[in-house]
Amino acid sequence: MTTILFKGDSESSQSWQQAMLTAMPAVDFRIWPHYGSPQDIEFLLLWGMPDQDFRSFPNLRAVFSLGAGVDHLLGDDSLPRGVPIVRLVDDDLTTGMSEYILLNVLRFQRLDPIYRSQQRRQKWLRHTPPSAAETRVGILGLGELGRDAALKLAALGYNVAGWSRTPKDIAGIETFTGDDGLQAHLRRTRILVCLLPLTEQTRGILNLQVFRSLEDDAFLINAGRGGHLIEQDLLTALDTGVLAGAALDVFDVEPLPPGHAFWRHPRLILTPHVASLTNPRSASSRISESILRIERGETLKHVVDLGRGY
Ligand code: NDP
Ligand code: OXD
Repeated sequence: MTTILFKGDSESSQSWQQAMLTAMPAVDFRIWPHYGSPQDIEFLLLWGMPDQDFRSFPNLRAVFSLGAGVDHLLGDDSLPRGVPIVRLVDDDLTTGMSEYILLNVLRFQRLDPIYRSQQRRQKWLRHTPPSAAETRVGILGLGELGRDAALKLAALGYNVAGWSRTPKDIAGIETFTGDDGLQAHLRRTRILVCLLPLTEQTRGILNLQVFRSLEDDAFLINAGRGGHLIEQDLLTALDTGVLAGAALDVFDVEPLPPGHAFWRHPRLILTPHVASLTNPRSASSRISESILRIERGETLKHVVDLGRGY
């Protein structure tokens, strides 16, 4: 019998158990810390560091991240090098992220922060927003999430470009790569969206120099990771008019600590890492497909490249 060990939020473990047993009725689904004999465990479903040496599971066949990002796992030196780490690629997760990006691009393009501020002051003043075609959105990261958001924004008429490590050819989207490409991408961007994985190369990429390279009156939307952003640089950019506002879903320290300067900043829109939430039902279907692939000896999809870090 296939044996799976789950370690994620304790509130979601029952939903995951139900979803995995629906997708694979014959599995032995165990929930941390009740894993029984470590020799039994073949597959780990993980969110966050396991507080346990991975080497204590000698028969591991794969580790599944419960999210798209794997930075929460890669810091662990006890990860057995030969065991594949699989990231989550799931239509529900992709759709949820595109909704979050559309929500915030529309909010900024349609001047919503100005109207919210006017409402607080009981001011009736009209402003003409730029059209979607006049609004240049730039997406850092054109992977599973960035590509979908780019196409959905372009379908609404936005002028969309994206930046990635390797070249891309996406109909209707201007694409950039490399350091020179990053500068050109930033110079033509008014709303900057971060959908990068957190790696050694991307940590701190959202900094003052980058904000200064954007068009005037620019906005930032960060749904990648808190480690992408230099927090003090964002505050400086907002307070000196380099940026007009930002929507942040991810933070260096989560939950964002009480009293943090972000909480009360009038130009910030915060959400508690919910831009896209993993749906246990659809994710379990994806994970069970991967487990069946392993059991049939087929090539696994979405395996993390440890050298690249994503
Ligand atoms: P993918 O791996 O599919 O895409 C990553 C993209 O980033 C790729 O286009 C990749 O380029 C690009 N990239 C990586 N490193 C660099 C670099 N050094 N320079 C330029 N481009 C780079 O990831 P996903 O789209 O599935 O997810 C992206 C991230 O979104 C996750 O890692 C996670 O951090 C975050 N996330 C946040 C959620 C939330 O609720 N806030 C929910 C889900 C994910 P290339 O295509 O050339 O490889
Ligand atoms: C993810 C996340 O990586 O939720 O999926 O942040």
